[in-house]
Amino acid sequence: MMKTWKIALLGLGTVGSGVMAILHTHAERIRKQTGARFEVVGILVRDLQKPRKIEVNQSLLTTEIEAIWHREPDIVIDAMGGLDPTLGFIEEAIRRKCHVVSANKEMLAAYGRHLHQLAEEQNVSLLYEASVGGGIPILNTLSQQLNANRVTRVFGILNGTTNYILTKMEEEGLSYEEALRQAQDLGFAEADPTADVEGYDAFNKIQIIAHLCFGGHMQALTSERTGITSVRTEEIELYGKLGYRIKLLAAAERRGAAYGLRVVPTLVPYSHPLAGVKNEFNAVFVTGDVVGDLLFTGKGAGALPTGSAIVEDILNAVRGNTFTPDRETYAAQEDSGNAEEWTEAAEARAALFTLSKQAGDPAKFRLLSFLSSEAGFLHSVDTLESEQSVHVAAILSGADTHVLQAFADHLNADLRLRAVLDDSLAAASREADVTFHL
Ligand SMILES: NC(=O)c1ccc[n+]([C@@H]2O[C@H](COP(=O)([O-])OP(=O)(O)OC[C@H]3O[C@@H](n4cnc5c(N)ncnc54)[C@H](OP(=O)(O)O)[C@@H]3O)[C@@H](O)[C@H]2O)c1
Repeated sequence: MMKTWKIALLGLGTVGSGVMAILHTHAERIRKQTGARFEVVGILVRDLQKPRKIEVNQSLLTTEIEAIWHREPDIVIDAMGGLDPTLGFIEEAIRRKCHVVSANKEMLAAYGRHLHQLAEEQNVSLLYEASVGGGIPILNTLSQQLNANRVTRVFGILNGTTNYILTKMEEEGLSYEEALRQAQDLGFAEADPTADVEGYDAFNKIQIIAHLCFGGHMQALTSERTGITSVRTEEIELYGKLGYRIKLLAAAERRGAAYGLRVVPTLVPYSHPLAGVKNEFNAVFVTGDVVGDLLFTGKGAGALPTGSAIVEDILNAVRGNTFTPDRETYAAQEDSGNAEEWTEAAEARAALFTLSKQAGDPAKFRLLSFLSSEAGFLHSVDTLESEQSVHVAAILSGADTHVLQAFADHLNADLRLRAVLDDSLAAASREADVTFHL
């Protein structure tokens, strides 16, 4: 006889409604593919009177978690988000031997290790594809399809809101504030955008990825988080002239027995596939020691892409699959360097100096002369004049940031430094191929 799996859905907002829609529209296909039926037996919400985006049987809705447990679900889906009371509900679900599927990046970044331990003790599945990259099957790939490979690096665009804002700033010449307002009007950004624009959301996601790829035995040796609130339109224009687009990149990189995490606005050359990832799309690069580079891209949020990831995880759970953080242990003597070496290892940097117009041409020429002879290896430089200011942007290798700052202070200039993702620069600095665009 065909088994019917009982599902409890915690939350019926954007994601929960997407899950309900897919379970309804794809019920027949799912039944044929899995040989199982799925029945939603209860839905936890905060407000029973709230108008819903999707029509559901009112008797399914409850505000009481006890009513959910009373219906004895086999699978609990967390589409409500937050830490409290969600974490307690998920712990209870695992204790009750329910499989858990979650979209909750905040909870998984903070308590993923703990929840994996509980799930292992109770022998239930814990899957959370929807928490990173919306519908992109990145966590399933990392956890289940790259087991022989040792993943050395994962990086990409993990936040659709900031990618949308940066795209609009570039394509429509909008200021950060204007692009944010537009994103809010279109529903791509929250009324309180802090989690997205300050990089917390992307950082949670890269932490989840790092836990899966590097397991519980490794330590994060360095971590850095900078959002996009400091990105200016002139900067986008000037780096555009040098052949780069600014993207908020999240990266997790293994070095020996440790790893580093970073979320920072980064210059990506136009020729790189990540430069072409626009608007609300996400993209993730994975490097495995055997397979080499892989690229995944797709919609990083929204009811249907996120709902798709959840429904696929439900099917994975009934097949007996679960996510498993990397189990390999690394010998302590394996070289992992130290935090300082990691920071210095950044191959190239972009520096944007802003001088007041009053400082005049002499200051600009002193700066250009400094950049071309004393600041490090100069790959390219360009200038842009606005009403009040002169902006000078340079791509440099091996520059000492303290020296750059000292020179900026000396000229009363403002200095902004950015990371650069450009593998070709290392070769260029070796060949001493300096390009000027003046
Ligand atoms: N939106 C996306 O595209 C997206 C993408 C990836 C991951 N996620 C993650 O998915 C989760 C849900 O996001 P969402 O956008 O769907 O949120 P949402 O639209 O705000 O929906 C949250 C739902 O949870 C319910 N809820 C919240 N707190 C509750 C509580 N204490 N008790 C009972 N019910 C409660 C709300 O009930 P009421 O409706 O009665 O208020 C609502 O139905 C979050 O972890 C989010 O980070 C979202």
